[in-house]
Amino acid sequence: TPAKLILGIDTSCDDTGVGVVELSPDGRVHVRANRVWSQTVHAQYGGVMPELASREHVERIDQIMGDALTEAGLRVTDLDAVAATSGPGLMGALLVGLMYGKGLSQALDVPFYAAHHLEGHIFAAAAEAELHAPYLALVVSGGHTHLFDVPREGEYVLVGATRDDAAGEAFDKIARLAGLGYPGGPAISEAAQRGNPDAVPFKEPLQGQKGFEFSFSGLKTAALLAHRAGARPEDLAAGFERAAVRTLVKTTVRAAQACGRQTVVVSGGVAANRALREAFGQTGLRVVFPGKGLNTDNGAMIALAGAAAITAGRPASRLDAGATAYAP
Ligand code: KG4
Ligand code: ZN
Repeated sequence: TPAKLILGIDTSCDDTGVGVVELSPDGRVHVRANRVWSQTVHAQYGGVMPELASREHVERIDQIMGDALTEAGLRVTDLDAVAATSGPGLMGALLVGLMYGKGLSQALDVPFYAAHHLEGHIFAAAAEAELHAPYLALVVSGGHTHLFDVPREGEYVLVGATRDDAAGEAFDKIARLAGLGYPGGPAISEAAQRGNPDAVPFKEPLQGQKGFEFSFSGLKTAALLAHRAGARPEDLAAGFERAAVRTLVKTTVRAAQACGRQTVVVSGGVAANRALREAFGQTGLRVVFPGKGLNTDNGAMIALAGAAAITAGRPASRLDAGATAYAP
């Protein structure tokens, strides 16, 4: 059997992502293309406008799809399977990619796989290093801060999550407060290098807890108070980043010990953070991060989730597979 070419589509939020992954008969995966159109219309509103996101996906998806095929050096008829995110995400936005993927699979007469967005984030790491259960997975993005134990392939046990804001959301909000721009993650990271992390006191959240929860609203409040008291943006950035990185790493390491896992996958937009990568590198655990361009939302990670489904022998999804919105 020759290698399989899988197209992956993600339109769960404000990025139109289409990627192509090659799945070898021995189960190895290779990203052939990964194209993302990041919507900029939302910047003027200070947050994602769902209806505008849907419309932009409709306007862009054909072009991004064409770009991905060109990057992979393929024709659409070369594809062996199509995968698309079915949730969680913004309902209208999700439907664009999901319907596009279903229609494409029908036209090409190839199997269709509906993918879970968080499974996509986790499988983004599979293109970087071989990933076999059991392992622990931290998905840390603008919408999620979720810690899963993966005892067996395809089984996800939620061991902890955020009580309030997602980590990326805190990066974005504090960056906006400090006037550091958008998206906040890279802006905070850059400013932090020029700042003094000891200038503004940030208490590490939920210290002494027995569980594996996260909380970022206290850091946000501390940043607001310090900002009002005249703290420098780069000091705010340095202090906040250090506290955020510490709570993410410490809680994940404790969870890995409690679950008896030696391998940890850290994925999602915040996994691109340099300080976070360095701190995880010093834990003694085997930590796998997605490669460049695979941390933030993208289509290749959904193609990788499709590849994992094929490798696991999962049946293809029915064409009436529905979309699921973010949990309220
Ligand atoms: O995974 P993603 O693209 O979208 C969601 O599913 O939410 O993650 C986007 C989030 C944003 O909050 C952004 O600020 C954050 O990831 N992010 C970072 C970095 N790059 C992106 N946070 C910290 N450091 C970074 N270098
Ligand atoms: Zn995401």
